[in-house]
Amino acid sequence: MTTPTAFRLFKQVPRILFGRGALDRLGELLPAQGWTACVVDAVHREGPIPARLAAHDVEVFWFDAAHEPSTDQVDAMAALVRAARAEGPSAILGLGGGAAMDVAKGVSVMLTNPGSASDYQGWDLVPHPAVFKLGVPSLAGSGAEASRTAVFFSGDRKFGINSDHSMFDAILLDPELLAGVPADQRFHSGMDCFIHCVEAVTGTMASPLAHAHAGKALELCEAVFLGEGSDDDLMVASYMGGCSIVNSEVGVAHALSYGLSLELGLRHGLANCIAFDALDAFYGAHVETFRRMMARHAIVLPRGVTRGMDRPAIARMVAMALRMERPLVNALGEDWRAVLTPERIEALYARM
Ligand SMILES: [Fe+2]
Repeated sequence: MTTPTAFRLFKQVPRILFGRGALDRLGELLPAQGWTACVVDAVHREGPIPARLAAHDVEVFWFDAAHEPSTDQVDAMAALVRAARAEGPSAILGLGGGAAMDVAKGVSVMLTNPGSASDYQGWDLVPHPAVFKLGVPSLAGSGAEASRTAVFFSGDRKFGINSDHSMFDAILLDPELLAGVPADQRFHSGMDCFIHCVEAVTGTMASPLAHAHAGKALELCEAVFLGEGSDDDLMVASYMGGCSIVNSEVGVAHALSYGLSLELGLRHGLANCIAFDALDAFYGAHVETFRRMMARHAIVLPRGVTRGMDRPAIARMVAMALRMERPLVNALGEDWRAVLTPERIEALYARM
């Protein structure tokens, strides 16, 4: 492949510790001085995680990730962290799936920047460097550990803070943390990675680097969900899928899934699966692979989720999808509006 043009400058996570049991080496990644505010998915309230974190100077702030996070929740969590100790934290740790990690990213930004997290939703809008932050995924697929994006609801929109300051300074990838994730959640989240990578390799914005990351991550996803791949493979796939998104974009499935999450409160991984399953016209063979994976894992998606929705709700979903300009340019080119009309979006939602 030849590179026709210089792609945009991008940042990657500078420090990574990978391996089973890596959580006990947390101290190697944290700053030597000060305390760490840990945003932890509340599913870990019971279990060994709190005791393992307690070996360090930390305060745990539980985050209920049953629903997608909002900018109000980020602002409230940042206020709690500020109030916890007179001297602010020297690090923020996010432990959980994409939602908990995104909240940690948002909090680290809000500790050094004025106003509300909603002021920074968009591209490169964060003026001041954030507090040092460390990501620890305990659910694989979102790629939040590797990407700049931190996605939040705010009023009638779902939008990402996309800044070099919203990227982790270090990540700890411990595949042991994936043990015990419920099978359907593991699948939905894993498919977030699969779908990121399909959207990257079929899009118009991907650099050869993005292709390489996404191609390998797709191979690993197929090994995990159709072969004998391990949680180690799944964790690497999620990371590489996130890397591919850093220098490409998502596509039609993500654009449509945001509306589903907004109106129906569906978690991101599940919303993506429901949207992707209706997109044969855009992602043909990949949708077939996805269905084979579902069959292999006996995953049954809810059907008719948009049935019974009223006109204003459908209009809001369509409007949300149409706002996803960059993903739709990536998927369909500059003339995407001619292909993905409001009527066609509505017809696709009707299939879900
Ligand atoms: Fe995603």
